[in-house]
Amino acid sequence: MKKQILFIFMMLLMGGYTYMQAQTYVGSEACSTCHSENYNEWVNSGHPYKFSVIENNEAPTYPSFVNNFESSWISNLADGSVAWSDIAGVIGGFGWKARFVGNDGVIVGTASSAYYTGGHNQFNFYGGEDHGWVDYDVTHENKIYNYSCFKCHTTGGDTTGTWLTGVDGLGTFTEGGVGCEACHGPGSDHVSSGGDVTKIDRVYEQVHLDNSIGGLDVNGTVQTPDANSDDINFMCGTCHNRSYTSPINASGGFIKHHEQWDELTASPMSNLTCTTCHDPHKRVIWDGDGITKTCESCHATEASLRHHPSTEVGCVDCHMPYAAKSGTTRGESGFVGDIRSHVFAITVDANTMFTDDSTAVRDDDTRSASLSLHFVCLGCHNNDATDDIPEMTLAEAVVAAEGMHEPNSVYELNKLQVGIYPNPIIDNATIKFNLTKSANTSLEIYNNVGQLVYSLSDVYKTAGNQYFNWNVTNNSGAMVPAGIYYIKVVAGDFSSTNKVVLTK
Ligand code: HEC
Ligand code: HEC
Ligand code: HEC
Ligand code: HEC
Ligand code: HEC
Ligand code: HEC
Ligand code: HEC
Ligand code: HEC
Repeated sequence: MKKQILFIFMMLLMGGYTYMQAQTYVGSEACSTCHSENYNEWVNSGHPYKFSVIENNEAPTYPSFVNNFESSWISNLADGSVAWSDIAGVIGGFGWKARFVGNDGVIVGTASSAYYTGGHNQFNFYGGEDHGWVDYDVTHENKIYNYSCFKCHTTGGDTTGTWLTGVDGLGTFTEGGVGCEACHGPGSDHVSSGGDVTKIDRVYEQVHLDNSIGGLDVNGTVQTPDANSDDINFMCGTCHNRSYTSPINASGGFIKHHEQWDELTASPMSNLTCTTCHDPHKRVIWDGDGITKTCESCHATEASLRHHPSTEVGCVDCHMPYAAKSGTTRGESGFVGDIRSHVFAITVDANTMFTDDSTAVRDDDTRSASLSLHFVCLGCHNNDATDDIPEMTLAEAVVAAEGMHEPNSVYELNKLQVGIYPNPIIDNATIKFNLTKSANTSLEIYNNVGQLVYSLSDVYKTAGNQYFNWNVTNNSGAMVPAGIYYIKVVAGDFSSTNKVVLTK
């Protein structure tokens, strides 16, 4: 009922009426007395920190578990001459990156900023790693922090008025960050009535002015919020989407960030809601416990067989890899960004998941929106010498991924389970491996600079435990020097490489 009234009210507003008698926003603090549990969970999530207005020339504060290197920001932003007294607000700084709005209302370091220095204006820190400063949108003129940006970062955003004294026409908001009332609607009547549940929305779909008239788009059909039901996906999707159109946008070889709605909508689980899995008040990053339903709870069959130890490789590691990027990429592979994908489905082939022009995730008749094995497998199985994860080529990943949840998958047939004893090696090594069917096998041993020092090829072996022996010589029978070696066992289409140390 209230939603309909609000909807009518929005229509009146758009019709040019200026008379207002709606509820007002009272701020999240006002909810804390009666809903202390929700409040305390929300305070430790990312939503409140999305936009911090700078007061008294002091840096914003974040929960203690957030490791964002905030103490070093102001002395390193731009050319180092900008002070907190020049800054009107910080965008983000909780999860992935921080950007700064100057007292002129322009994002510091962009072309028309009073603090223009040609970049050095975005700090990346995902997962508590220092990924340093990058140049954000340096050539962009008038990159101002107005409604079009903060409609997703603040509560009660409006196109009229201005939030920053001295700079006209930016629009206003009632609270920096995504407050209780961003998702529940203005709460003055609920509060003044002492908690009348008919005076607050469980799910307030009119988060944005522009979404009250529709916005999210599925295959060309504009979605409007259902006025009579709690349309959770519309509400969350209002902010967790990119362009209001269904393609999942990409750039630089990664899915762009804030596209969780677009991705879920294109995924095989489009009929789930965000809160099927998420507690809306709790964080998921920084080891949060905001996931209330595990993958295993609905997919018992796949959970029973994944060919990887569940303690080391979870469902999300393969089905929600970091295929999206907000600030930075990580690791050696080039396939690990900083945002998990919500596409879930995996296509087993060697193709890219992006369109030819790389601007979107493919979603067509021959390939529905799905993750490619680059992100699913190679993010872990790469030649990073600092982990114990076997290396793998894309071609090998394709072979091993097929039927990943089936008992007699190719994976199983090829899983070599190589063990090398002793390690470190002194004067002799036993290389044990396991074959589930007979095959032609070979042994290749490489030194630290990639030269082949020893090899045996086309040795026929039968199913079961099998062994090679290496007495630390090269192919001419001379002893090799102490150092790091890579032992590669090849069986049929598959291989496994392990790093060993020879000490002597
Ligand atoms: C004076 C105490 C009080 C204050 C202040 C208060 N609430 Fe409530 N609220 C209640 C009570 C009581 C209920 C009903 C029991 C429950 O769900 O906890 C309720 C229920 C709700 C519900 C559930 C509605 C539903 O349809 O089930 C939401 C959402 C909510 N409050 C949000 C808020 C928000 C947002 C604020 C701050 C703007 C707020 N409340 C401030 C007392 C309060
Ligand atoms: C990101 C959006 C979002 C924010 C921010 C948010 N809520 Fe909620 N809240 C929800 C949703 C969605 C539900 C309904 C969950 C459902 O029905 O599955 C809900 C449910 C509730 C309920 C009903 C009881 C319950 O816990 O399920 C209360 C009370 C409530 N919220 C209070 C608050 C208060 C107080 C704040 C601020 C401290 C807040 N919420 C912030 C989205 C949000
Ligand atoms: C359609 C809604 C929307 C708009 C418009 C939007 N953002 Fe965001 N932004 C988000 C969401 C949602 C996230 C977090 C989720 C994600 O990145 O996947 C985010 C994340 C961020 C972060 C990282 C936050 C952190 O704690 O690390 C920054 C910084 C940011 N946005 C800046 C901007 C700027 C600057 C603009 C305007 C040019 C803008 N955003 C416009 C929705 C939006
Ligand atoms: C008003 C816009 C808005 C709405 C509505 C919204 N979000 Fe967000 N959400 C954001 C922004 C912006 C961020 C980035 C905040 C940050 O970390 O700086 C974010 C971050 C998150 C995060 C990552 C940070 C964390 O705490 O783990 C999750 C998870 C999330 N949102 C889930 C949801 C869900 C689920 C809903 C719907 C119940 C929802 N959001 C509704 C704007 C929104
Ligand atoms: C509430 C139950 C539920 C949860 C939780 C859930 N799923 Fe699903 N999932 C479904 C349903 C229902 C389908 C659609 C089934 C179908 O089409 O056969 C599905 C489909 C899928 C598919 C596509 C299946 C196919 O045949 O192509 C994948 C992959 C998947 N889920 C992975 C996951 C992962 C990973 C998680 C955890 C992040 C997860 N699911 C959590 C219910 C769930
Ligand atoms: C090591 C990576 C990996 C892990 C871990 C993993 N999966 Fe998969 N999963 C795959 C691949 C690859 C496919 C596609 C197999 C194919 O198409 O032949 C797949 C397919 C699926 C499907 C589609 C139906 C099917 O059986 O082919 C579902 C559902 C699914 N996985 C759910 C899960 C769940 C739930 C978990 C956690 C218990 C999980 N997966 C863990 C790689 C993984
Ligand atoms: C099938 C379950 C499922 C559904 C449905 C789902 N999520 Fe998630 N979401 C997850 C899991 C699992 C994570 C990762 C948690 C972790 O990293 O431990 C996650 C992470 C996130 C993150 C943080 C991204 C990152 O990489 O840190 C955001 C933001 C988010 N979800 C928003 C949403 C929104 C918005 C919706 C609805 C459009 C949604 N999710 C629907 C399971 C789900
Ligand atoms: C989160 C990291 C991670 C991801 C993602 C991952 N793996 Fe693995 N994989 C491992 C680890 C760790 C092992 C070693 C497991 C053990 O000790 O038994 C392993 C072992 C294997 C092996 C056995 C290799 C051997 O030499 O014995 C194969 C084959 C394999 N993975 C295939 C895949 C495929 C295919 C994918 C993608 C569908 C994938 N993995 C995704 C971490 C990962």
